[in-house]
Amino acid sequence: MINMSILKSLGLSINPKLHVTVLTGAGISIESGVPIFRGKGSMWEIPEARRLAMRASPPWNNKETWEFYEWRRKLVSQCKPNAAHYTLVEMENYFENFCLITQNVDGLHIKAGSKRVLELHGNMWKGRCMKCGKIIDLPETPLKTLPPCCECGYPLRPHVVQFGEPIDNKILIEALKASKEAELFLVIGTSGVVSPASQMPILALENGAKVIEINPNPTVLTPYMSLSIRGKAAETLPKLWKSFFTD
Ligand code: APR
Repeated sequence: MINMSILKSLGLSINPKLHVTVLTGAGISIESGVPIFRGKGSMWEIPEARRLAMRASPPWNNKETWEFYEWRRKLVSQCKPNAAHYTLVEMENYFENFCLITQNVDGLHIKAGSKRVLELHGNMWKGRCMKCGKIIDLPETPLKTLPPCCECGYPLRPHVVQFGEPIDNKILIEALKASKEAELFLVIGTSGVVSPASQMPILALENGAKVIEINPNPTVLTPYMSLSIRGKAAETLPKLWKSFFTD
């Protein structure tokens, strides 16, 4: 049940100038049918998936890596954005200073219509050339050849950050800036165990933001939150958003 005056109780009031930053994780896509990473029913329960996702060394532009991503891409191709993704589009349209940071590589925020999305871990619908650096859209699954090739002829790798790889510096700097500048920060559907994303809500708090977590389960971030709402993203976020406009 959402208290009608949540924003007010946090000392904030609704207006388009409010600086809002949102961090999402796998939990926001669960109600779309995308499997989570950790725990029951997650990708980690499939040994082959775990082995490939955790493999810390290159090359990433080989057939085996792409077979794993094709398996994931096929799964996600059957999933549609849910009410939580669409609510974030409404929020982006309302707030002048709005930034959406996601750890998800499923591309569902963009599919829903979000425009400014910082995809910390990349996007499974893109490939990257390890020779010329070009990023190529790969919207179709199954791909005609594995691995797919760049226009320069070199095999592409998935444009996804693997375990142990650094996040694109430009994206990271923008995400940290948006976290520092936030007055309201929403943390939706993340276990908060993977850095640097997990540090962003804390950075926001340290810089004076009110931070609201939406998650059906408590997380390592919960003790630090201004408010934790126990609920599913697709049910809770639209209600929370509506409550912002009610006294
Ligand atoms: N709505 C919101 N949150 C939910 C829902 C739901 N319907 N169902 C589950 N959750 C929560 C879980 O309680 C959990 O806290 O979503 C979270 C999912 O956590 P993870 O599977 O760890 O996903 P995430 O935090 O995004 O993982 C971070 O780790 O494996 C890497 O790169 C991968 O981006 C991923 C990163």
